[in-house]
Amino acid sequence: MLNKYRSHNCGNLNKKHLNQIVTLSGWVHDIRIKKFAIFLDLRDSYGLTQIIVKKEDANFDTLKTIKNESVIQVTGLVVERKVANLKIQTGEIEVVGQAVKVLSVAKAIPFVINDENNFTALEDLRLKYRYLDLRRKQMFDRIKFKHQVISSVRNFLNSEEFLEIDTPVLTKSTPEGARDFLVPSRIKKNAFYALPQSPQLYKQLLMISGIDKYYQIAKCFRDEDFRADRQPEFQQLDMEMAFVSQDDVMQLVEKMLEQLWKDLKLEKIDFPLARLKYQEAIAKYGSDKPDLRCSCKIDTLFSDEDLTLRGFWVSDKFNDKTKKAVLRLVEQHQGKNFLVYSKEKGKIIFSSNAKITFSDFQIAAISNSAPKEKDLCYLTYEANDSGAIALGAIRTYYILDSEKQQNHQDFLVNINKYKLLWIVDWPMFESVDGKISAAHHPFTSPTNPEEVLKLKVSDTEKLLAVQSAAYDLVMNGYEVAGGSVRIFNKALQAKIFQILKLDASTVDAQFGFFLEAFEYGIPPHAGIAFGLDRFVMNLTNGSSIRDTIAFPKNNSGVDLLTNAPSSVDLKQLEELGLKILNDKN
Ligand code: AMO
Repeated sequence: MLNKYRSHNCGNLNKKHLNQIVTLSGWVHDIRIKKFAIFLDLRDSYGLTQIIVKKEDANFDTLKTIKNESVIQVTGLVVERKVANLKIQTGEIEVVGQAVKVLSVAKAIPFVINDENNFTALEDLRLKYRYLDLRRKQMFDRIKFKHQVISSVRNFLNSEEFLEIDTPVLTKSTPEGARDFLVPSRIKKNAFYALPQSPQLYKQLLMISGIDKYYQIAKCFRDEDFRADRQPEFQQLDMEMAFVSQDDVMQLVEKMLEQLWKDLKLEKIDFPLARLKYQEAIAKYGSDKPDLRCSCKIDTLFSDEDLTLRGFWVSDKFNDKTKKAVLRLVEQHQGKNFLVYSKEKGKIIFSSNAKITFSDFQIAAISNSAPKEKDLCYLTYEANDSGAIALGAIRTYYILDSEKQQNHQDFLVNINKYKLLWIVDWPMFESVDGKISAAHHPFTSPTNPEEVLKLKVSDTEKLLAVQSAAYDLVMNGYEVAGGSVRIFNKALQAKIFQILKLDASTVDAQFGFFLEAFEYGIPPHAGIAFGLDRFVMNLTNGSSIRDTIAFPKNNSGVDLLTNAPSSVDLKQLEELGLKILNDKN
């Protein structure tokens, strides 16, 4: 006897239990009322068991009216099923109910839980009743899978002598590039905590504290625009190691992944993982997170007068649908010189800039680059990477369209396959709206620190060419992890802040404590963080990060179940010394 509610769970019973009296508790998954008996499937998180309640049973009439999802307890005899249902674990037996107790009655449910094939509920409804949504097998399996991923990596990291250490959630702003969520302090008026965008500064401080290997399953908070692969609140598997180089971190991660693949019996991948330089990824795939399940590449056809002509071949027609979609993508990447060449017609059939002309020789170069059976070539003629990135967006468009419609043979990817690779040799800085910013985060070390110490803060061109010791792990077109070797030299860290145009008082106020710690003996260190929810989304071949989080926010940042964020009592605001200026929104 397990306890008073059950002797077994709903996934336990098989022929070994024949003729035993058992007690099960669970939810009514499905109920079929016949003249002489009621057949019901009882469900708990372990499985389903078929229960029969015969007409002569005292409970027959009560059960006749019971709705799906009510919670009942059944005591009965295990018997062999006449026709086994091999789709479920307990399919060889059934339980003939002798005593049935209704523990909790459910009213009519807002959407079907027991028919995955015909599941049509809109996401908003699922999120409002998330506790019902999570009862669906598909959702339960994903949540359980995430637990198994966490459990595997924890076991691995523990065995490698990592220490799991938690860091504060009420903290100071960390610059990961997004907006902070702020929490007003009641005790210290006009002062705010920031929720951490990541534990970056704390994990580096742990290295300075003498911890050799750290990890944490950390909650991170970023107030940024929504996407299918982003949430304002998400989990990172965050790691940091002292006295290591880039290769040590990458090797450790690969060892962890090898163990994970083994533990979870995932579709095999080859180790070591491929490494692609950032510039090569942009040139060949027009993306810093290329989906390598598809082999189609961008060709660099020729360069002249600072402009590079790049081409991307497809077997498709430039009709109204593709024209609209493709032009929008090109526009998003600020591509001005966009052209389309048709092999069949032997000429350029579309040009966004009438001033561009090509010689016969150049046209021949385009035509000669055509792979067999492909007719249409999208072309960009741009000075910088924007041309490649626009073609990369078109490449992604074709992959996604093939996934949905199964229509472009060259772009059909196997969604059950995993393609992982490292992107290495990143630029240290990027120019955003004419302003220099850190491509990773400001604590990332350049590959050659001496070179940066010598550079002038005003030498934008040279700064944009500096390479950093950063690395991203990309999986099926998503960035699932990112990390870097860190700066451990105070002068270099100060110089980076200077390059990023952070003035001395800002640096002091924001990072003074951090820079001071550099003066008490700091080990060389490096680390990485996995976006755990996004990683699990890819491992489960999902398309929304929300499906891997038990209680996610919707696209507007609202938790539809609790209705957070919501207004608060005026008294609470008063205590915090806050006033709402404009309450019209
Ligand atoms: P980074 O900002 O690249 O690095 O984040 C690491 C990984 O976290 C995931 N991620 C997200 N997942 C869901 N929702 C979001 N809004 C979101 N933002 C990021 C991504 C990403 O690869 N401190 C550094 C790590 C380091 O240098 O060690 C950091 O946070 O999968």
